[in-house]
Amino acid sequence: MSQPTTLSIRRPDDWHVHLRDGPMLAACAVHTARQFARGIIMPNLVPPVTKVAEAADYRDRIRRAIPAGLTFEPLMTCYLTDSADAAELVRGKREGVWVAAKLYPAHATTNSAHGVTSIDQIASALEAMETAGMPLLVHGEVTDPEVDIFDREAVFLDKVLAPLLQRHQGLKVVLEHITTRDGVQFVEAHPDRLGGTITPHHLSYNRNAIFKGGIRPHFYCLPIAKREEHRLALRRAATSGHPAFFLGTDTAPHTADTKECACGCAGVFNAPVAMQVYAQVFMEESALDKLEAFASLNGPRFYGLPANEERITLRAQPLEAPERIEVPGGNKNVVVFQPDTPVGWSF
Ligand code: DOR
Ligand code: ZN
Repeated sequence: MSQPTTLSIRRPDDWHVHLRDGPMLAACAVHTARQFARGIIMPNLVPPVTKVAEAADYRDRIRRAIPAGLTFEPLMTCYLTDSADAAELVRGKREGVWVAAKLYPAHATTNSAHGVTSIDQIASALEAMETAGMPLLVHGEVTDPEVDIFDREAVFLDKVLAPLLQRHQGLKVVLEHITTRDGVQFVEAHPDRLGGTITPHHLSYNRNAIFKGGIRPHFYCLPIAKREEHRLALRRAATSGHPAFFLGTDTAPHTADTKECACGCAGVFNAPVAMQVYAQVFMEESALDKLEAFASLNGPRFYGLPANEERITLRAQPLEAPERIEVPGGNKNVVVFQPDTPVGWSF
């Protein structure tokens, strides 16, 4: 069957995005807004976004960073700490500021030092969210240093998420950036209340890529890429049309100097190439007809929001993307993700 030369789908949304703040926000926002109508904004700033007023101010700063002519709606999340305040969560939801709250296990990843040390600490917050119909977004990794880094997602499902779901039967949960077959199967086992986001990079490479020819910091993110069998499971899930799986890029910019060093930051900056890479994956899986469900329909349905009416068109042409983007002031730049295999879609 011949491949199409263009692909038109409803405008997609990014259900997991780090836009940062200050000069980095100024540099990055345009790249997300070019592709996506809405984004679930991650709250792991320094300090983290824990109050309704802070989230409303951050939302204003994001809106101001979107260039004229582009439309983009930031959907804000609350960073849960051990002292998460149930009343603040409910108020922010009622006032239309929070869409969801994010659980970072303490020290699991970038700017998670204020994260949750034990689920017991946030039981009342989770009860309030359950009642308010506010989804819990989960960074699904245990932090126990005894657990191998490649097993941290699977152990989290077993030890933390399964009991959490049991205890909070009405809570809707998104298992963010799934990286394992275990994650796929866990989401599939709870279809009505669980969603799973999948990044373009976890669909594109396995853990070998991080070490190919030397250590490659721009392929390092958390949860870390796993074995090939897990990447294949993610590709099957994303392209299956199953409504629980949807797009979340986890675009996570760090300046090149903070990744290319002795203890580099975790995060892949993929915003300029996200839809092109997803389209490539769906084409390779002979599933271009499923891309719109994954990118533009399943997420809104999970969050109870309308799908976008606008459309975007991708062209079947070799990817055109900058190698780096400049961060204003300070002579810094961010390296843009490029898979090792060719991408035959442009936007
Ligand atoms: O690789 C990652 N980078 N994973 C995360 O969970 C956080 C993110 C970041 O904020 O840089
Ligand atoms: Zn993230």
